[in-house]
Amino acid sequence: MLDGGAIGRTAQPVMRLHGVGYRSGNTDILSDVELTIAAGVPTLLLGPNGSGKTTLLRLLMGLIGPSEGRVDVSAVDGVNTARRAFVFQKPVMLKRSTAANVSFALSAAGFPVDPLVVASLLQRVGLAALADRPARMLSGGEQQRLALARALARQPGILFLDEPTASLDPAQTKAVEDVVAAIAATGVIIVMATHDLGQARRLAGDVVFLVGGRVLEQTPATQFFDQPKTQAARRFLAGDLVI
Ligand SMILES: Nc1ncnc2c1ncn2[C@@H]1O[C@H](COP(=O)(O)OP(=O)(O)OP(=O)(O)O)[C@@H](O)[C@H]1O
Ligand SMILES: [Mg+2]
Repeated sequence: MLDGGAIGRTAQPVMRLHGVGYRSGNTDILSDVELTIAAGVPTLLLGPNGSGKTTLLRLLMGLIGPSEGRVDVSAVDGVNTARRAFVFQKPVMLKRSTAANVSFALSAAGFPVDPLVVASLLQRVGLAALADRPARMLSGGEQQRLALARALARQPGILFLDEPTASLDPAQTKAVEDVVAAIAATGVIIVMATHDLGQARRLAGDVVFLVGGRVLEQTPATQFFDQPKTQAARRFLAGDLVI
């Protein structure tokens, strides 16, 4: 687990949600969300299927706007909070080489396509040896690491990940986690949804626990796992809260 947990400590808040709701038609998908994303340690979103994790990530990314409430973004030294990137559960690979997928991401983000930059991005995710391989021939874990390289091509200050290891075996999961931890160590703010409690223990600084579109807890991970505040979290950790 990375260093402790940010909430209530000295970490600087980067994004704050105040009374945020998100509605689609007549359905409340998120309600009364109070949330702080802080610099320093990854924030992991946990909760049963349909609890609103993906919706919350999309809202934090700015892909959707809140139906009510406010999203505040604070300036933090050395973090470009306006630059955000998103890694989806199932990445879509362009039908070209691994390197060309990264080149495309660089140019889509408005950066020059420098082969040295492409090589260094592939190096960071451990794919340098597979640069020329068609991206669609990569394994699931390799594709997810390529998706991370494409996200890094945007030079994000904040990186959102939605269950990036959902269909991976333990070895591939570990490879992706190692890359995510290395990215976090460079100061990029990580916000990640997962169903993998072991992964949350390994990566989390803070845990945000959602049920039914509401944030029931936001606490340092050690506290969440050792002394969850709510009955729902205790049941979730015991594996018997499935909504
Ligand atoms: N655009 C939409 N219109 C209507 N309902 C939606 C919309 N987007 C999401 N929902 C519903 O909102 C709820 C939250 O969905 P969301 O995908 O955010 O949950 P999740 O926590 O990511 O779930 P999972 O763990 O299965 O990925 C679900 O009941 C989903 O069906
Ligand atoms: Mg989801």
